[in-house]
Amino acid sequence: MNPNAPQQLLRATVFHTPRNPFVSEAALEAFADGALLVGNGRVLACGDYAALHAQYPQAAIRDLRGGFLLPGLVDTHTHFPQIRILGSLGLGLLDWLHQCALPEEARLADEGYARAVAAEFVHGLAAHGTTTALVFGAHFQSATAALFETAAKSGLRVVSGLVVSDRLLRPELHQTPRAAYTASKELIRTFHGKGRLLYAVTPRFALSTTEGMLEMCQSLLREHPDVRFQTHVNESPREVAEVLKLFPWARDYLGVYERYGLVGARSVLAHNLHPNGDELKRLAVSQASISHCPCSNAALGSGWFPLRRHIESGVRVALGTDVGAGTGFGLMKEALQAYMLQRLAPEGFALGPAHLLYMATRAGAEALGLDDVIGDFQPGKAADFVYLRPEGNSPLAAVVARADNPARMLAALLTLAGAECVREVCVEGAPVFSRDSVQ
Ligand code: GUN
Ligand code: ZN
Repeated sequence: MNPNAPQQLLRATVFHTPRNPFVSEAALEAFADGALLVGNGRVLACGDYAALHAQYPQAAIRDLRGGFLLPGLVDTHTHFPQIRILGSLGLGLLDWLHQCALPEEARLADEGYARAVAAEFVHGLAAHGTTTALVFGAHFQSATAALFETAAKSGLRVVSGLVVSDRLLRPELHQTPRAAYTASKELIRTFHGKGRLLYAVTPRFALSTTEGMLEMCQSLLREHPDVRFQTHVNESPREVAEVLKLFPWARDYLGVYERYGLVGARSVLAHNLHPNGDELKRLAVSQASISHCPCSNAALGSGWFPLRRHIESGVRVALGTDVGAGTGFGLMKEALQAYMLQRLAPEGFALGPAHLLYMATRAGAEALGLDDVIGDFQPGKAADFVYLRPEGNSPLAAVVARADNPARMLAALLTLAGAECVREVCVEGAPVFSRDSVQ
């Protein structure tokens, strides 16, 4: 680190969760008149403005009072080819896939179409304050490459991979395991570990993959020990029943992936609405993470997420937007939806603002094995942050003017702040998105 690099002191209300609120009482750190000291793309310090200003009088001050700084949001489940089908309401998972998602995904065979979609998608992430995302790529190598290239230009951290399937979708989305292996290897060689990009082996779900394809995924993970893994599990009752018919030897849905060594600390499995107790125990032991996607779960009517059982079993849980079954790119909206559904769910978990912020930031970093780099504002971490500012005359501005305690302010932010509040988004201290009127 260059000690002579310019240092900037960003003054605003600052929130982060350097600890896990599901296991630690004092997980939320909040500084009403706070500051973030940034230099060389890193967080150098985070705390009260007055103390930091006294300690670092040479740092240039950027006065963002009236606004909020949060760690960059981390989306652990989303599909880039599905941005144009957002809002296709009214169907359950399997009907939605066949009527809405898969016909659109087939269009990504056209590279020009895929590039346009990739640009829309990456912009959507940044404009909503998401700085890191685990993304389902496309079923086509060229389209998945287009996503990686667009992400690289944007400066965002993107973990993605070719979606592989060899049955029960549409023929144009199927690949043989051998072709999928060759394409995946080439994508890994070209993009994995390049700049802020990482690769994730991505079988769509057990229903669309034969044993040969899952074996191919196992080979990729063995040959590339630091790539990540993502798929879907236990999302809808109909899907679960079909999977158990196709893999009669499996004791449950998770058992299919376990048989091929696909469930470990670098695995993120989306949904898991219908697990049995043993699956939860095995997930905890494996240290795999579940991506909880409450907007998608409600929109598709997939079921209640048993968050309490996950937490009590020691399973890691982060948040995902699941574009396009979900309702958009906003992780703060997703956090609010998680809260709402837990209020209603049988044996729901009483989520507070610290849990919600953690699930939208640090938990995602942990799920991706990036918690030594991102997820909160501890010194030495990358300066990935979102600057939020309520629009004048908005309900959020009215609440903030009155809120007298930081946790209440954070709760109001999570309830009321939409994309219009996202003023600037930085990765390693450099803007990846900014709105015109930023101070
Ligand atoms: N299961 C398999 N594919 C998908 C998908 O695209 N979205 C969701 N929500 N579940 C899936
Ligand atoms: Zn999904």
